[in-house]
Amino acid sequence: MQFIRAPAVSLVVLTVAACLSFAHGQDGSPALFNLTARYEGSSLASIFGVSDDSVINQAVVTAWQAQLAQRASAFLAVPLYQVVVRSFAIEQQAVGVRRRSRKLSGLDLALAAVSGSSSGSGSSSRRHLLQSGEGAAVALLATFDVLDTRPDAHAAWDFTALAGALGAASVTVNGVDSSAGVIVGFFAPPPPSPRPGAAALRGQPPLAPTLFAYFDSMLAPGAQGRSREVVWYDDSDFLEERQDGTPLNLVWRNKTACFTRPTCGACSRAWGATAAPYVVTLYFRDPVQLATIAIRQVNAPAVKSVQLLPWPAVNISGAPAPRAGFLGTPVFNETKDITPCPGTLTVTLPRKRSGLAEPVPAGGSQYGLPKALRRSAVGGVVITLSAPPAGASQRTVVEWVRFTGRALYPLDASEYTM
Ligand SMILES: *[C@@H]1O[C@H](CO)[C@@H](O)[C@H](O)[C@H]1NC(C)=O
Ligand SMILES: *[C@@H]1O[C@H](CO)[C@@H](O)[C@H](O)[C@H]1NC(C)=O
Ligand SMILES: *[C@@H]1O[C@H](CO)[C@@H](O)[C@H](O)[C@H]1NC(C)=O
Ligand SMILES: *[C@@H]1O[C@H](CO)[C@@H](O)[C@H](O)[C@H]1NC(C)=O
Repeated sequence: MQFIRAPAVSLVVLTVAACLSFAHGQDGSPALFNLTARYEGSSLASIFGVSDDSVINQAVVTAWQAQLAQRASAFLAVPLYQVVVRSFAIEQQAVGVRRRSRKLSGLDLALAAVSGSSSGSGSSSRRHLLQSGEGAAVALLATFDVLDTRPDAHAAWDFTALAGALGAASVTVNGVDSSAGVIVGFFAPPPPSPRPGAAALRGQPPLAPTLFAYFDSMLAPGAQGRSREVVWYDDSDFLEERQDGTPLNLVWRNKTACFTRPTCGACSRAWGATAAPYVVTLYFRDPVQLATIAIRQVNAPAVKSVQLLPWPAVNISGAPAPRAGFLGTPVFNETKDITPCPGTLTVTLPRKRSGLAEPVPAGGSQYGLPKALRRSAVGGVVITLSAPPAGASQRTVVEWVRFTGRALYPLDASEYTM
């Protein structure tokens, strides 16, 4: 990790400081910079530029994030869509208190800042912030990507000056990816004209059209419920449709973790494979392309196969009729699962199979998926477990399944932000 410090910094936390220049891709090929801007202050409110932590909500966080992207875009002279804010983390320091750092979503961040919020990660972050006591300082780390399509057309970027332009204490370069041709597809410009009607399908006002939206470590949006074949995470009756041990626990966005320390055992907020055929299917509402599938097992790991279903894999209102069969061969097919307990089995799709390098044409839509994308557009994932040995009291317990990839022509791209 290279660390570039702005002149105006008073707090010193990290000790690695180096000024390195970064080689651009050969022949001026595009380069994708992975950067972290570090903001420091006495409180989160001071960083967000609001009067008090209690007024920080998601809107404040979103506006701040948009401002960061705009400033970076203006300073580096790249189009706004070539700047993507990926994640936030809060770090707090105080004399005698060990530094803590954790990754947070924008919503977590808002929750962490508002007092009196109920359960969940938000309030525990809040507690951490309060516990740090007198003399404490907070640092907010925003990780973002910037794509440079024309490195040959300008002098090397000055990230020290960028920190100044962003109002950040420092900007760190985490890495540079110069694999030409591939990353450009990741940042395709927005289509020239909006696709009318698509957003209206879900009764929402038209949103800015988006060709695709990345997601990282995201739970699937849907699974079978108590009374119907698919329940989505944002259905109003989600909690009534969920039952202990059922597939919807793998869709439940704000459930609490099964254990606070690495332990194996039963957990009601997980999918428990209690009866044959030991299969769970997770569904996506928008077509997605997957890079990784991470399966967390907290008892008797026994994943036998992971298979992909084409999109749409289930009846989705407004979408074409479901497609039958599997999408290609299994992405995982083993007689024995050697994942330790508790442990996470991560299945990584080969780049070609994932389809992530395919360009997403502006002319396409969910209803007219370009042929090249149809081959990799996933609508569901089927996870099959081995049956437990006869008489075994140990049932496999899957706490969560998280996906990294991108949604194609999402009807509401905001579902994937953070
Ligand atoms: C960017 O760098 C951060 C910090 O090293 C890392 O956690 C993250 O995975 C990187 N993101 C990408 C897209 O490579
Ligand atoms: C998630 O948490 C919020 C706030 O605590 C609550 O209002 C909502 O009903 C929860 N949703 C689910 C699906 O649990
Ligand atoms: C979609 O709905 C129809 C009619 O309700 C039903 O017959 C069919 O089985 C459903 N398809 C899937 C894939 O669930
Ligand atoms: C899974 O692997 C087994 C053993 O190698 C093989 O016989 C079987 O055909 C594979 N399943 C699928 C669906 O490809």
